[in-house]
Amino acid sequence: MFRQMFKPLIAISLALVSFAALAEPVVIKFSHVVAEDTPKGRGALLFQKRVAERLGDKVRVEVYPNSSLYGDDEELEALIRGDVQMLAPSLSKFDRYTRELQVFDLPFLFDDLAAVQRFQSRDSGVRLLGALSNQGITGLAFWNNGMKQLSANKSLKLPADAKGLTFRIQASDMLVEQFEMVGATGVKMPFSESFRALQSGQVQGTENTWSNYYSQKLNTVQPHISETNHGVLSYMLLIDTKFWNGLPFKVRSELQSIADEVTASVNRDAEAINAKNREMIVASGSSTVVTLDAQQIKAWREAMQPLLKRHESDIGASVIRAAQTVNRR
Ligand code: SIN
Repeated sequence: MFRQMFKPLIAISLALVSFAALAEPVVIKFSHVVAEDTPKGRGALLFQKRVAERLGDKVRVEVYPNSSLYGDDEELEALIRGDVQMLAPSLSKFDRYTRELQVFDLPFLFDDLAAVQRFQSRDSGVRLLGALSNQGITGLAFWNNGMKQLSANKSLKLPADAKGLTFRIQASDMLVEQFEMVGATGVKMPFSESFRALQSGQVQGTENTWSNYYSQKLNTVQPHISETNHGVLSYMLLIDTKFWNGLPFKVRSELQSIADEVTASVNRDAEAINAKNREMIVASGSSTVVTLDAQQIKAWREAMQPLLKRHESDIGASVIRAAQTVNRR
């Protein structure tokens, strides 16, 4: 009797609830591990802003910076589970899933960031955006941070100076080998643990970009930073494929065009952000920036570059060759 009386009311309430649910913007959780004032941090905030301006009634982006939601040892699994919808992990962190992207970790492969961007925009680079499709992950774009420098508690001018030291590295087997080539040891560790590990002396050195040194205060625990530009820190902007394909076509197209615009902005500004952070490190007096002459750079290059030949078969000789050609203007 009671149920019969209230049946129409229940039906109306359910209809209202589901209408409200449909009217709610869909939420994109975008998690990352760096500070907000870095190329990736700024990119995530710009993406959030543009989506609010152009799709505000349909999509809401929540940005979680600085490993506040997931650290870099757990964020890819969170994406695969559907607990977050977007990430932009460093390409070094994909080696559990694909070997091809390790091309970006080969030392002294790219002369500078402009060469990296040329590679990423050509067919062989664009193709790599699909490297995680079998994991249910869609690659939307490459975002670049910058060239990596090498730091330690002592001045590193020649490869022999690094012998016997331990370095915090990203979770990449190629980076383990890179440090082996100079008689050092690479210890894989989440980004969020870098400061503590350097401060406590658990490791004596690390490699990163000027913006990551400055924004994580790593320079305050690294008295010497050698300007080696020996490798690149680049990201892939990722979205959960199931989520992506489930969006209405018009929403997805608009999100893709926002992602393209934000990508252009991130990649245009990355070099300037790193240059500014380099100056701030110098001005802070925390660390000596060790500039290397051509002979010293050559010595690092010769020590590390045999990895290119060693990895021709697993990464693909054609991918490596395509990357090498972008250095020639
Ligand atoms: C990042 O820039 O996303 C982190 C890089 C690192 O782990 O060193």
